[in-house]
Amino acid sequence: MYPKRLLAWAALCFAVFPGTAQADPRADYLLHCAGCHLPNGKGAPPDVPSLVGTLGLIVASPEGRAYVLRVPGASQAPLDDESLANVMNWVLRTFNEKTLPKDFRPLEAAEATDARRRVLADPVSYRKRLWPDYD
Ligand code: HEC
Repeated sequence: MYPKRLLAWAALCFAVFPGTAQADPRADYLLHCAGCHLPNGKGAPPDVPSLVGTLGLIVASPEGRAYVLRVPGASQAPLDDESLANVMNWVLRTFNEKTLPKDFRPLEAAEATDARRRVLADPVSYRKRLWPDYD
């Protein structure tokens, strides 16, 4: 009787916490990004930009793919390169579904590695210079 109950308990634990042992970009977003950008990604413009909609347009270019990983909040997050790429892919798919290019290739760990060597000192003016027409 007793061992069976233990097995049932173990099974329940796996059912309730399936992601504990593996990468979970949504959990990473909530832990490392949502404090500023809010759980729904809308942030608090103009101080904290919204991550909804426009990013899908920005990542259409190579500069844009790098930009989203070079902003200090992202590049300096305490996540490894693969988790950072995955959390950004999650943000893009979850909040920018409508604007994401049809042929979008998910960001890769190597792009995060590269972006972290080139953290943007002044992301706001860089963004205004490259994408003057975006909100
Ligand atoms: C401490 C607050 C804070 C945290 C935490 C934070 N950010 Fe940000 N984020 C900002 C601010 C402020 C900006 C505007 C640029 C700047 O001043 O750095 C920004 C800009 C961005 C941008 C560019 C948006 C645009 O439209 O130009 C992206 C993408 C982004 N953050 C993603 C993330 C991700 C992903 C995380 C979590 C890994 C994260 N940020 C964590 C505050 C934060």
